[in-house]
Amino acid sequence: MEHRHQPVLLNEATELLNPQRGGVFIDGTLGLGGHAEELLRINPQLRLIGIDQDPDARAAASARLEENVTIIAGNFRNISELASEQNITTADGILLDIGVSSLQLDDPSRGFSFREQGALDMRMDPNGAETAADLVNTLKERDLADLSYQFSSNLS
Ligand SMILES: C[S@@+](CC[C@H](N)C(=O)[O-])C[C@H]1O[C@@H](n2cnc3c(N)ncnc32)[C@H](O)[C@@H]1O
Repeated sequence: MEHRHQPVLLNEATELLNPQRGGVFIDGTLGLGGHAEELLRINPQLRLIGIDQDPDARAAASARLEENVTIIAGNFRNISELASEQNITTADGILLDIGVSSLQLDDPSRGFSFREQGALDMRMDPNGAETAADLVNTLKERDLADLSYQFSSNLS
């Protein structure tokens, strides 16, 4: 299935990031690469690092952006370590477009959508340990309530 995700606040994001000045930019939620593509369109000389925890997103972004971006598997909560592994210690711009992507919502097997039938998975990283079904079926009601509270007040 081809996904034509419309990047949110594209003009506002690129205006604030100002990629014309060049340097190192990190997209911590690469997704389908819409924002990254626009940053590179404005300045093809950028050193662009794209992070995503979803292998399907990384594959889609890789096909779209070809070799113009260094794509890294990981969670942006580890952004310093992930950047250091690329010998990057400072960045000129960082973009976080936090949320689910249409790639995740449109695939019933990912378990994010109410629209289609599918197992209750909801892992952004399919290699992650527990599915939402595991949690719902094993946690005590109190722990489930705490989890729900914590995840809605902290970035995952
Ligand atoms: C809204 S989409 C990004 C769309 C992207 N800006 C574009 O224009 O195509 C959000 C992406 O962030 C990823 N994501 C969400 N939380 C993350 C995290 N903590 N670390 C890494 N990636 C994350 C998701 O897997 C998803 O691909």
